Amino acid sequence: MNQKRITIAIDGFSACGKSTLAKDLAKRLDYVFIDSGAMYRAAALYCLNHQLIQNGELAKEEINAQLSAIEIHFELIQQEPHVFLNGTDVSEEIRQPEVAGIVSIVASYKPIREKLVEAQQKMGKQGGIVMDGRDIGSVVFPNAELKLFVTAKPEIRVQRRLAEMEAKGIQMNVDEVRKNLAERDHLDSTREESPLIQVKDALVLDNSQLTKEEQLDWVLAKVNLLVTN
Ligand code: DC
Repeated sequence: MNQKRITIAIDGFSACGKSTLAKDLAKRLDYVFIDSGAMYRAAALYCLNHQLIQNGELAKEEINAQLSAIEIHFELIQQEPHVFLNGTDVSEEIRQPEVAGIVSIVASYKPIREKLVEAQQKMGKQGGIVMDGRDIGSVVFPNAELKLFVTAKPEIRVQRRLAEMEAKGIQMNVDEVRKNLAERDHLDSTREESPLIQVKDALVLDNSQLTKEEQLDWVLAKVNLLVTN
């Protein structure tokens, strides 16, 4: 039987495990996985490399003039999605604290959002996609068949982010991580342009007490209901 290939939109705060869930789901369903945050991080890296942000202020005119020179795409390398900025694999670089420190400011700039949203919508045209971010269910795919809003207790998110950074060989202090997450939560949910919101038709998944496998099974059960009906 040919199953419907749906669009799955996953939103939530930073370090809630959205990308892990999205990646696991895409593997199990043989869907495309897009980490939209990686695209904003790549745009932020571009701004850093070209001195387009100083003391938290964006050089808006220069960014506007260079927008068409920013090319971001994904490639699968040994089954893992890698993000490329103007032809260079920046998957590692975009996880550095320097990028995390400015990405919310870059992501709040409308022309950057418009450019990336357009690219994201193109990638999702055929369905069979799992995308995670902050505005996926509200702006990028408002008609997604399945929308999830993922949450976890703040201290659990701090521990997860610390473990993720440690696995990448980046040592961070717990207070620094707590502060960065709190600042980003605030900026992401209070900005004017497509703030993070919990849309009415999203299912809420609090994964504070769930293992990766348990949360995956929970979502797969919801997907099964949608694709077989
Ligand atoms: O998910 P992440 O932490 O890698 O996201 C990086 C930043 O990009 C985060 O501060 C919010 C922003 N972002 C966004 O504004 N919209 C998205 N769809 C995805 C991420």
